[in-house]
Amino acid sequence: MAVKKITKRWLFNSLGVILVILIALEVVIAFSIKDYYYGSVEKVINSQAETVSGLLSKYHSEETGDYEDYFRGLVTSFEKRNIMELMAMNSDGKVVLTSSGFIPEESSLTPDCFEAENNIEKTAEYIGETNGEKVMSVTVVPEGKTEDFSSFRIVTSLEKVDRQITFAIIGTSLIGIAIIFFVVVSSSYFINSIVNPVGQISETAKKIAEGDFNAKIEKKTDDEIGELCETINYMADELGATERMKNDFISSVSHELRTPLTAIKGWAEMLEDSSKDDSIDSKTLERGMGVIIGETERLSVMVEELLDFSRLQSGRMVLQPMKLDIIAELSEAVLTFEQRAIREKKALIYEEIDDIIAVTGDKNRLRQVFVNIIDNALKYSDEGGSVTISTLRSENGFVDIEVKDTGIGIPADQLEKVKTKFFKGNATRRGSGIGLAVADEIIRMHGGEILLDSIEGEGTTVTIRLPIDK
Ligand SMILES: Nc1ncnc2c1ncn2[C@@H]1O[C@H](COP(=O)(O)OP(=O)(O)O)[C@@H](O)[C@H]1O
Ligand SMILES: [Mg+2]
Repeated sequence: MAVKKITKRWLFNSLGVILVILIALEVVIAFSIKDYYYGSVEKVINSQAETVSGLLSKYHSEETGDYEDYFRGLVTSFEKRNIMELMAMNSDGKVVLTSSGFIPEESSLTPDCFEAENNIEKTAEYIGETNGEKVMSVTVVPEGKTEDFSSFRIVTSLEKVDRQITFAIIGTSLIGIAIIFFVVVSSSYFINSIVNPVGQISETAKKIAEGDFNAKIEKKTDDEIGELCETINYMADELGATERMKNDFISSVSHELRTPLTAIKGWAEMLEDSSKDDSIDSKTLERGMGVIIGETERLSVMVEELLDFSRLQSGRMVLQPMKLDIIAELSEAVLTFEQRAIREKKALIYEEIDDIIAVTGDKNRLRQVFVNIIDNALKYSDEGGSVTISTLRSENGFVDIEVKDTGIGIPADQLEKVKTKFFKGNATRRGSGIGLAVADEIIRMHGGEILLDSIEGEGTTVTIRLPIDK
């Protein structure tokens, strides 16, 4: 499931990285803390050692009294006795006097005691254990050393310092754990805020896939996820609309097919009956035949339209391009509507230009587009209306064929949709709703476009724009 996968990925990626960084930081901090504490202890010890050594040198150089007495006095009255110990040693390295008054065994002496005696610098430092206690010590051989008071040593315990270091490390570790805890809590809130809607979205998407176009996702946040919810809702709406359009198409096509068939069948039966007893007059016969031929034509146009549509859908529509005069093709197409316009009492105005405009295209397909657009213009205008057809050579190598009617127009909100398949804006006029979609596709295959401009109730202008041959 998605929840587990994203959470797991997050654990491996973010939390893993944070953990590694925190551990590395903790190690660095621990070492710095230790360095800092030990460094300060060392500084204090060294400064004490310097003070003592300085006092001894000064006393020695001035030679005002007994050096050993002075040394003894320094040790017994050592100021810092509560935090460190000052010891005096003889030339054998044996402790002769301490500030605490306690004389340690020889074994408790640290390496610095012996190093100092043999060292040119005459000082030596040491950090390590003595008698199970961690200490830091420094031994100095001062100027004016004697047999019994050859060197002195300052020792301090590191136990307290170590304890402080441990506390500091535990403290920073706790802060690290708190950070991780905070990160986990805030991140899981964040992850859930993504994972939960994703789960909902996939559930709804599944419902939509199963055909429930009313399934909606509630948009909870105003971010990318919210946007995704909106997009999916929009998709469901559009799919629902397409589904409705398809159903409408099937019912309107069925209706369209049945109407002419009924007329044809009715007239054919009537003619059959009357041919038996010769009771038919020539006028009725002519009318009957006219209806049969007209309706058959309408049927074949419609079937042709459907076949074209199916060819377009499956990508089987191929153009047979040739060089042709677009004006001549348009004129022929307009001619086929002359009778119909008179019959329907509409004015068909063709502003023919005396020019040849060469276009490379499929003759039959282009004719079909003209027929379709003019048919719409006549169909969607009422008695007394007019349809004006004009051509215009435009500057940038295109020719605009304009079909302008004074019909019912197209509502602004439908203008974008009328070119989509199955879309029928007006149920009062006959049609399958695929004519414009097919025409648009054909013109596009020719490298042109169909432009629509309409005002509801006033009329529509359809412009077929095609590239002119150079
Ligand atoms: N000249 C026009 N005037 C008003 N509406 C039009 C015009 N041409 C197209 N339409 C609208 O566009 C829709 C799609 O046209 P079309 O695909 O040719 O379908 P049909 O002609 O079968 O209705 C029509 O149903 C109609 O609503
Ligand atoms: Mg049409």
